[in-house]
Amino acid sequence: MASTGFSTCFLSACCLCVCKSMPTQVHQQAVNDRPVIGVLTQIVSDEVMKPFGRTYIPASYVKYLESGGSRVMPIRLTLTDTEYENIFKKINGLLLIGGAVNLETSDFARVAKLFYNLAVVANDAGDFFPIWGTCMGMQLLTVLVAGKNLLTKTTAENIALPLNLTTEAYSSRIFTDFPTALIKAVTQEPLTGNFHHYGVEVKTFNENVNLQSFFYLLSTNVAENGAHFVSTIEGKKYPFYGVQWHPEVNRFQWKSNLNFPHSRHAVQLSSLLAEFFVNEGRRSLHHFDNPEEEASSLIYNYTPVYAGNFTGYEQVYFF
Ligand SMILES: *[C@@H]1O[C@H](CO)[C@@H](O)[C@H](O)[C@H]1NC(C)=O
Ligand SMILES: *[C@@H]1O[C@H](CO)[C@@H](O)[C@H](O)[C@H]1NC(C)=O
Repeated sequence: MASTGFSTCFLSACCLCVCKSMPTQVHQQAVNDRPVIGVLTQIVSDEVMKPFGRTYIPASYVKYLESGGSRVMPIRLTLTDTEYENIFKKINGLLLIGGAVNLETSDFARVAKLFYNLAVVANDAGDFFPIWGTCMGMQLLTVLVAGKNLLTKTTAENIALPLNLTTEAYSSRIFTDFPTALIKAVTQEPLTGNFHHYGVEVKTFNENVNLQSFFYLLSTNVAENGAHFVSTIEGKKYPFYGVQWHPEVNRFQWKSNLNFPHSRHAVQLSSLLAEFFVNEGRRSLHHFDNPEEEASSLIYNYTPVYAGNFTGYEQVYFF
């Protein structure tokens, strides 16, 4: 079976000459096998977390990115625009994590918007730069693209759901490397953990020209109030992706009173999405000025705190 291509090639004189000339014809696309993905810290609002720091990143997101073959740079929310512009030139992608802050006026929103604008300009100029938004991160991407907050009540709090995939999902980039059996499982088994009260309704998405023209809608779900909400989106032109659910919990969060999917299919789903996004990061050739600068910027300089007895997370990085 696997030798079909070879035998065709060697048996046909015409094909042979194509084979011979290939090395000069193939355009060598540069690949960066040492990607660094930036993660914006979240503002601590929970009283029990306040003694540890002003901002945080749940370790589950860090492990998720590391599992895909990336390193992580935590990005604080207190830097100047110039400092963010410098960081942008060094990192290979951005993950906007979940949380609960104002999507237009918070520091998190301000910094996310700055990176989003830099990424749009970079991608337009052929400088590939991916962004992934999870839960509130996805909501924030829709606010940035639509130019306004379109969220409405779409509560799906602590519930695992299968995805209602659209036709576009089957020709999407996100799901392209999924085995057929896993795609089937994604549509039939509750593999996606939902922890949200607001979201973008499918109706809202379809009626908004900006969202419609920017994103493919890859999946939808039904909220507790019956509202159909957008659950997975993928940029048409830009390498920007969003999920209303939480792929990182499937492998890295374990609170038994929370509905974190841990089945084999749930773990595969989480693994493949992490691999997918990090691989997008490999297409970015941004880099640090020197190894010392890189080393001092990475998450390895910080130690996560055990938080399983006072948060829903197992471990949290505080800044
Ligand atoms: C799935 O999505 C389609 C539209 O793409 C919708 O008509 C249908 O009601 C949805 N089904 C469920 C179970 O959410
Ligand atoms: C959580 O557990 C640690 C020990 O692992 C302990 O030092 C800390 O006080 C506990 N925190 C709370 C809020 O119970």
